[in-house]
Amino acid sequence: MDKIATPRLEQLQQQLHVWLTVPDEITDPGTLSDYLSLLSEEERERQQRFHFEKDRHSFLVSHALVRKVLSMYVDVDPADWKFSAGEFGRPEIAGPAGVPPLRFNLTHTEGLSACLVTLDVDCGVDAERLGGRGNLQAVAARMFADSELETLSVLNGQQYQQQFFTFWTLREAYCKALGTGLGFSKKDYAFDVADDSRIAIRFDSPRDNGQGEYWQFNLLRPAVEHLVAVAVRTDGFAGKAVIQKYIVP
Ligand SMILES: CC(C)(COP(=O)(O)OP(=O)(O)OC[C@H]1O[C@@H](n2cnc3c(N)ncnc32)[C@H](O)[C@@H]1OP(=O)(O)O)[C@@H](O)C(=O)NCCC(=O)NCCS
Repeated sequence: MDKIATPRLEQLQQQLHVWLTVPDEITDPGTLSDYLSLLSEEERERQQRFHFEKDRHSFLVSHALVRKVLSMYVDVDPADWKFSAGEFGRPEIAGPAGVPPLRFNLTHTEGLSACLVTLDVDCGVDAERLGGRGNLQAVAARMFADSELETLSVLNGQQYQQQFFTFWTLREAYCKALGTGLGFSKKDYAFDVADDSRIAIRFDSPRDNGQGEYWQFNLLRPAVEHLVAVAVRTDGFAGKAVIQKYIVP
């Protein structure tokens, strides 16, 4: 796994940084109370609304992760970041005034939180814990494109599960990069996955008035039980190196 030594803003011209943390491993009361002091009033209210302690904990660590990660690139106190939400709830940096155009996206799942950071480009990240839950076939039939269903149709057991979560995380990362969320996941695009870094999206009809849409997708496997997909809008040329690192924020 590549390492990020000291992250610098300029590195984001060539790199995508994915910061990972394991909330369950962060239990020190002093650390957690520091995290709480970083959150905005609104974040604290949202955190309190979760019914289960494990969800309150994951939310706290994840939001401290975002704030502390952003402060590694720019000289802003982690508590001073301001966020606003787009039409479908996608958080963006809204202050302090004059900060560079950093973009980020957060994901949290059982046992893992991840924050993707880019400079000035649409980005989305989704992490899932692999495992059979619910009726994956029914979900696939509703959400996936025909070619993706065809790929799944010859698979069973663990192979099916792996491929299901491959398509699922890619679709979710893409929709999160667009900011629409999965409500807009459609069957008119499909993923072709050659390997974890050779992934193409195919559209049934041209996007952006025929100008095309160019994306870089990557799959990361930080631990055997987790799959992480990254989606970043590109200019259609050189791909960026994906650098991932576990931290305690
Ligand atoms: C946004 C969404 C994709 C999150 O999926 P998820 O697997 O539950 O959650 P993840 O852990 O991957 O991501 C959650 C984080 O994504 C970010 N996020 C929230 N809304 C987002 C959006 N529309 N796009 C991108 N990122 C979003 C937030 O940072 C959120 O963290 P928080 O809830 O702790 O603040 C999902 O909730 C969704 O599809 N929402 C639908 C959007 C919507 O309301 N559409 C309405 C029209 S159908």
